[in-house]
Amino acid sequence: MPLQPIPIDEFTVRAHQLWHGQWLLLTAGDHAARRFNTMTVAWGSLGTMWNRPFAQVVVRPTRFTYEFTEEFDSFTLTAFAPRFRPVLKELGTRSGRDMDKIDGSGLTPIASQEVAAPGFAEAELIVECRKIYWDDLDPERFLDPTIEDQYSGDDYHRVYFGEIVAVRGVDRFRTG
Ligand SMILES: Cc1cc2nc3c(=O)[nH]c(=O)nc-3n(C[C@H](O)[C@H](O)[C@H](O)COP(=O)(O)O)c2cc1C
Repeated sequence: MPLQPIPIDEFTVRAHQLWHGQWLLLTAGDHAARRFNTMTVAWGSLGTMWNRPFAQVVVRPTRFTYEFTEEFDSFTLTAFAPRFRPVLKELGTRSGRDMDKIDGSGLTPIASQEVAAPGFAEAELIVECRKIYWDDLDPERFLDPTIEDQYSGDDYHRVYFGEIVAVRGVDRFRTG
């Protein structure tokens, strides 16, 4: 199904279901330069910051994708129909450091409209983001000690805010 542009005021998601239930691909890099990587993400948020629509993602420095979120100024978030779940599982288990996992996934990287990072032709939602902020999670500020259970080493996530500059999706992601 072709994706339609979605005005930001009409962009509608069930946020926890999208992140926790459906998962997304986080893709950073430059499509034209053929330098990018992708990984599955299930932690993050969509909302408003500094009067702008924004997405927040968290990336452990051990991920190959981290090298791209650091070097490049944009990223995309893409969601897929349930039949792609095994592909997302694979892209969230294997590292692009060891193999060309995108090529092996059967997904087709496509140019974005506003940012250098690519989306995927098979996606049902593409959110294009321009990086505007980063920070590192500080374990001394975990107010619930069980959060520490999510970490086995010192691989605390780096947080990135991306201003949402374009959204395309199937009808389900649009109300108006
Ligand atoms: C369902 C799921 C959700 C994940 N969410 C995140 C996340 O939010 N942040 C993160 O750093 N890693 C997350 N991961 C782990 C990465 O996707 C995984 O380590 C991946 O292989 C990294 O690939 P890369 O080394 O090519 O970047 C998740 C994995 C899965 C399966």
